[in-house]
Amino acid sequence: MNHQFQFKNSCALITGASSGLGAEFARQLAPHASTLILVARRGEVLEELKKELMLKNASLVVHVRNVDLASAIAREELAAWIKEESLPLNFLINNAGLGDLGDFGAAQWDRLEPILTINITALTHLTYLLLPILRGHTPSALLNVGSVAGFFPLPYNAVYAASKAYVKNFSEALSIEEEEYGVVVTLLSPGPVPTPFFEIASRPGEKNMATSRVPQALITSAGEVVTTALYGLLAHRVSVIPNRNLRIAMKLCSMLPRKILNFFVPR
Ligand SMILES: NC(=O)c1ccc[n+]([C@@H]2O[C@H](COP(=O)([O-])OP(=O)(O)OC[C@H]3O[C@@H](n4cnc5c(N)ncnc54)[C@H](OP(=O)(O)O)[C@@H]3O)[C@@H](O)[C@H]2O)c1
Repeated sequence: MNHQFQFKNSCALITGASSGLGAEFARQLAPHASTLILVARRGEVLEELKKELMLKNASLVVHVRNVDLASAIAREELAAWIKEESLPLNFLINNAGLGDLGDFGAAQWDRLEPILTINITALTHLTYLLLPILRGHTPSALLNVGSVAGFFPLPYNAVYAASKAYVKNFSEALSIEEEEYGVVVTLLSPGPVPTPFFEIASRPGEKNMATSRVPQALITSAGEVVTTALYGLLAHRVSVIPNRNLRIAMKLCSMLPRKILNFFVPR
């Protein structure tokens, strides 16, 4: 009997599956998993993805859950539905997230609050609600999507970076707590990935801080990010930074004085 977590026949829930990394997780897991639960607000986009996945993977079961993760009630209803359906959830990917690029003092609160709600509260609440199910279906896994932005305070991206620092510390602590229960916990910290993320994080009327402004060597495709994350999780890595150049850059950054680092921050 294999007591290692594996993707084969897994039942995985992916938040933010309607776009970017979340959709890529679904595509890469589809040939291995038995059940995928796709969660996001845009139900029609999830339905399209479901069709695509089922066409290529005849035995795969795909559930679409049209959920606004900003709502605590909606999060509770999602967890209750999984229990009612007796779904053997053994893989939770907390991927949904968003940012707001620019000066904190000039920010709109209605763009900052969802960062706190989705990146921190929803991720923590969903983990809290679903952890008993993960513990009940071991070997199981939890993958939280952070960011290299969470490794340091980041001016002009202050709230997003701080939210991802929370994800980092929370995930690393949980990885130790969950060891004895058979739940592998991995933190994925990507650098820039070409997805709609930057467009959404750029303020209306302000210049788009797209990945085009970032050195090419630090950009990683969504496909590579997801593959590296999944391999890292199988290897029980607590933390995955899915780009070698980025790993070196982060190491160098950790050795530089903050004043020098701040000089390189785009403003
Ligand atoms: N792209 C990058 O450069 C980068 C770098 C480091 C880390 N990350 C992290 O990677 C994760 C995925 O980002 P991405 O690049 O794939 O961005 P994306 O393409 O913009 O996708 C974000 C996803 O989050 C979902 N979402 C946002 N608000 C939601 C809400 N209220 N309720 C439910 N779902 C919600 C969106 O779905 P709906 O709009 O359909 O609800 C969408 O599926 C995020 O946590 C992000 O912080 C991204």
